[in-house]
Amino acid sequence: MYRISELTNQVGLSRTALLYYEKLGLIKGQRQANGYRLYSALDVEQVKFIQQLQLGGLSLKECKTCLAHQVDKEMLKQRLAKLDEEILQKQQAREMLAAMAGLNAEVNEQSWHQKAIHDTPKAHFNWLLTQGFSEKEAFRMKWLSKNMTQHDQYMADFMHVFDGLERWGPGGESETLHALSLLTSKPKRVLEIGCGKGLATKVLAQHLKAEITAVDNEETALASVKQMLQSQPKVKLKSSVKTLCATMTDLPFEPNSFDMIWAESSAYIMGVENALTAWKPLLTDNGLLVFSDLVLLTNKPSKDVTAHWQKDYPDIQTIETRRKQIAKAGYQLIADFTYQQASWDNYYLPLQQRINELSTGMKGSQALADLSREVEFYLKYQKEYGYQMFAAQFKL
Ligand SMILES: C[S@@+](CC[C@H](N)C(=O)[O-])C[C@H]1O[C@@H](n2cnc3c(N)ncnc32)[C@H](O)[C@@H]1O
Repeated sequence: MYRISELTNQVGLSRTALLYYEKLGLIKGQRQANGYRLYSALDVEQVKFIQQLQLGGLSLKECKTCLAHQVDKEMLKQRLAKLDEEILQKQQAREMLAAMAGLNAEVNEQSWHQKAIHDTPKAHFNWLLTQGFSEKEAFRMKWLSKNMTQHDQYMADFMHVFDGLERWGPGGESETLHALSLLTSKPKRVLEIGCGKGLATKVLAQHLKAEITAVDNEETALASVKQMLQSQPKVKLKSSVKTLCATMTDLPFEPNSFDMIWAESSAYIMGVENALTAWKPLLTDNGLLVFSDLVLLTNKPSKDVTAHWQKDYPDIQTIETRRKQIAKAGYQLIADFTYQQASWDNYYLPLQQRINELSTGMKGSQALADLSREVEFYLKYQKEYGYQMFAAQFKL
């Protein structure tokens, strides 16, 4: 038999709490002649039993009902659903802490980053910056590696694949020319953002009489642009081209500096809506903005496609939604069109070939496996998503 002070030690509850248990009839102390109450081993077990039920989310009154009557199965089912939800939340919180602590073996770090990028993109991005990642690295982690501990290796592999390729995204000369044919004026000062190795830069320089500034934050890409320009017969280039290594989020130009901005498959990096707003001040009134973006070609994508882009491009939109965003940001859409199959072939066929060439030497590379999966996924689901070119004009 136990005194109440001993019972409190056994079960870790206060005296007041135990007296309340007693008042509810959950335990039954036997009053002694000296006025003390004594509790049995059964009371100890009873309290521990109730504590388990409480951990499951039952109130004391519900515990009492469970113990005194036949269990209320409906009530328990509801509690179970709530408990499952709480367990999931705790699991996610645990994964977050483990990922932050770099305990990579314990947790699928990629999935944590994916979730954070989707649910709390700005906070996650800022947090990466506070962890010492540069903006460039943080963007790369967002779009490419999604893994803090293996980021360097992933990026080295990724760049190794792409260094050997001309094209870093779907596209083609015919798409660039088609977009140029839509323009409502002849631009003289052009800013190209995220120019990569300069495939579109070349077409622009051959067909426009303008001063073109080609910006990218990758020095190796800009070196290729310069090389490509030098190899061009001078007569073919109607424009002069300058290159600049800078980030698209903080472009070092005065307001109204350009009468056209060109961004083939690069606006997504900072988010299309952000880009529409952030780049606008750089344009003159009636200035042109041409950009391309990955879009959903259906309002009802399959589960596989939804899950895939949730992971790799959570901000993917339908063409209609992008049109609305363009209007909302203060531009007037001139026209838009979907890339031809050939533009995807231009990107994926050399990529697939490069993956095949590298597969023996880069066995076990996560970056190579991801790129290979990306190509296979496209071949299977190409009807549901595509690339869209948008040409718009800024109106004051
Ligand atoms: C998908 S590639 C597209 C390249 C090229 N426009 C094309 O269509 O082939 C995206 C380009 O944006 C560049 N980029 C990534 N982050 C950037 C940033 N913060 N500022 C400027 N350029 C960036 C990359 O280096 C890359 O060249």
